[in-house]
Formats: sequence, C-alpha cells, structure tokens
Amino acid sequence: MLARSLHKQPTLWLFLLFCGFLFYQFSKDPSDSSLVGLDAFTSKDAPAKAPTKSPKIAIITFITQNPSYLHLSLKNKDHYARRHGYDLIVDYEAHSEKGLMWWKYAMIERLIKKKRDWDWIWWMDFDTLITNTNIKVGDVVDEALANVTDPSQIDWLLSHDCNGLNFGSFLVRNHERPLKFIDDVVAMSTNKKEDGGDPSEQDATAMLIKADPKSAARTMQIPQTKINGFPQEIACFDEDHQGWEPGMFVLHFAGAWAHVKGEDPTGQMMRKYEGDIIWGDWKDFYEQA
Ligand SMILES: *[C@@H]1O[C@H](CO)[C@@H](O)[C@H](O)[C@H]1NC(C)=O
Repeated sequence: MLARSLHKQPTLWLFLLFCGFLFYQFSKDPSDSSLVGLDAFTSKDAPAKAPTKSPKIAIITFITQNPSYLHLSLKNKDHYARRHGYDLIVDYEAHSEKGLMWWKYAMIERLIKKKRDWDWIWWMDFDTLITNTNIKVGDVVDEALANVTDPSQIDWLLSHDCNGLNFGSFLVRNHERPLKFIDDVVAMSTNKKEDGGDPSEQDATAMLIKADPKSAARTMQIPQTKINGFPQEIACFDEDHQGWEPGMFVLHFAGAWAHVKGEDPTGQMMRKYEGDIIWGDWKDFYEQA
C-alpha cells in the first residue's frame, strides 16, 4: 500500500526523507538532557588539566552492632563502590585495646601494609550516606590536590566541623608515610586531654596536627561539604557554615543522639534522608565484578 503510493507520488518520498533527516538531527543532539547535570558538574568542579588516570580507591568502614540502618548504610556504600569500580572493605569485629574507634587506625595500617594498588583509602563512619552517587570521590581528591603546590606531600584529606577536626569521613594516601603518622598519633594518645580524659583517636590526631608542624604539613583541610556534610538538624559546621543540601555528595549524622530526640536518633535521620539519595541504575554495573 505505502510502497505503491510512494511509486506514484515522488513528493511523498521527499516528505518521508525530510522526516528521516529531522529525526536524525534530533536524536544526535548533544544537549541530551540526561547528560546535562553531569557535564555541568565536571566542567565546573574538575581541575582544568589534561585528563589523568582517576585514583583507585578503597572505601573502608566497620560495624560491630546491628543498628536499624544496617542494610541501608551497607547497600548505599556497596552500590556506590560497584558503580565506580572502587573496593569496599567492611570489618564486622573490632579488637583495639584503646577503644572501639581506634579500630579505624588498625584497619588503615593493615590495609596499607597489604600494598594493594589503591591510591587512596576513604574512611567512612558507619553513620554516613553517599547522597549523590554520581560524584566520584577520586575527583574530590584530584580537585583538592589541584589546590596545593606540591600534591605529593599531602597524605590526609580531612574536614572540620564546629569543634575542629571531624574524623568521620576522610581520605588517606595508600603509602608507607601515613604509618609513621599513625605511630605518632598513638604516641600522642598517651597524653591526657585538657579536661584530664583520655583522647579519642580523633582527639589524638588533632593534638598531633597542632603539636607537630611536619605532621600538619602532611594534612590538608577541605570544605566539610565536600566529603562530610552534616544535616541542618546537626548544625555543627566548619568555617564555611554550610550544611548539607540535596545533590551534595555525603551526609554524616555525627552525634545524632545529642541533637535528635527519640529512641533511635541515627536510624531516624537515615530514614528521613533515604529519599534524597541519588542512586545509579543498578543494571549498568551490577553484572560487573
Ligand atoms: C579548591 O579551591 C577552590 C578555590 O579556592 C575551592 O572553591 C574548592 O572548594 C577547593 N576544593 C577542595 C576540594 O578543597
């Protein structure tokens, strides 16, 4: 039927050809809306250099209990790691004599000594969520290092909250040098705090950075919102006074118990913000290793 009318009417032919041309023009339009957000992000925030190899990352954490948000926190970190080809390492027991949270340093030491091919290790407290899984933490590292004259000297990318150092989300270079830094933190921890108490791993780290300029020179403070955003409910922000907003990379419900009323403050916060997480499409990466 169509073939017969085409034969008789050359103008119909031309019309169909024109339609095909239009369709082709539209389908190859580079302003494909699904890519706009990502393009805007990379061109605005990435260092303006020739593209280099993206850093290889191990994301690490531990959990020794069974909190109400166990599945969400694990699923979120696992989804993110799969999406970007990062490794995720979770310990389910902690055996540090100095106190539970010192296990993060034990983990870091253990993993550095394995001499695996990660460039950086990203420590995340378990009460964190990656709220924008489009963002590569490797790009955050590159952007931070592009801000210093000698990136090779920096081993620690740290952030502050209203009380100074917050050690809930930070990056450490996978290199022997941080092992010495960790030894120095442990030595520092034999001192008492100003209030007479024993320093936590976070306190001892802050004490070392304050007391020893050489150790301090290995660290770099980056804006809290880059890796360690706090929600408005926990309004303890760094010098930028910036709380987490939708689209930002990471949410950390640090010390939720002190700010949120209820039986399960961290779980309540986790569930409140779950809907704000920007996930990837699992089909794009679930089949891969
Ligand atoms: C790098 O420096 C720029 C300009 O000062 C700043 O806006 C940005 O937040 C810094 N990035 C990091 C990750 O520190």
